[in-house]
Amino acid sequence: MGVVESGYRPITTELWPAYSPEVIVFDTPDKVAKYGKARLVEQVLQKPTSVLTLPTGSTPVGMYGLVAQAYREQRLDLSDITVFNLDEYWPLPPGHAASYAEYMRTHLYQHVNVPVSQRNIPNSGAVNPHDESARYESALRQRIVDLAILGIGPGDTCHIGFNERGSSPRSRTRYVKLDPQTLAANVVNFPDASQMPQGAITQGVGNILEAQQLVLMATGTGKAEGIRRTLEGDIGPDAPASYLRYHRHVTFVLDSQAASLLS
Ligand code: PGA
Repeated sequence: MGVVESGYRPITTELWPAYSPEVIVFDTPDKVAKYGKARLVEQVLQKPTSVLTLPTGSTPVGMYGLVAQAYREQRLDLSDITVFNLDEYWPLPPGHAASYAEYMRTHLYQHVNVPVSQRNIPNSGAVNPHDESARYESALRQRIVDLAILGIGPGDTCHIGFNERGSSPRSRTRYVKLDPQTLAANVVNFPDASQMPQGAITQGVGNILEAQQLVLMATGTGKAEGIRRTLEGDIGPDAPASYLRYHRHVTFVLDSQAASLLS
């Protein structure tokens, strides 16, 4: 492991002060997963009532496996945490195999002891996505998120949650249309491509930036250009993940492939 860059060097922008995030590069995706798990466990051990924002997608699967293992080995109690997922497809019948609610059940909840009442995710089956977004926003606003763990979208999207290109740094929980590159990358999770929703409900960038601490995990060559633009390009709506540079306590944890285009 090597720290490429760290510290909080203020950079002046028109909007808000920005910082130089901590960037940690490991040689393998397994070590990225281990780091994510270590941050989650450390947070919960320090504060058993932690509120966490958690991601879905292929990147965090290994991390959830390690969290489940820590629970099995009685090194972790998740009975007092509260989870807010980043996002969920809309519309999709609840329980659909490709829903993020089902992802969380499969990869985390069926293996650990997070009470059902403390698991929050937008309802993919809600009648009205705007009402559902407002409900989720109001639940989130009542809590302070201690740690948010994120991925980054495919290709040029640089999305966080489903905040696609064009998102504002002040955006709140809302219904969004998915970027064509996101649709193309995620359609593999839908056995019948025609069932893939074109939209989703996502925490906004503003919600994400309110977390006390942030960790963004990225692995593989497919993320290399997005990571480069996020960390070395301008901060702005062309790369929503770049808004994380407005946060003082953010760590990018990358494998060497995802970091390969960094200067
Ligand atoms: P992935 O998705 O982990 O499957 O690459 C990340 C994301 O879209 O945010």
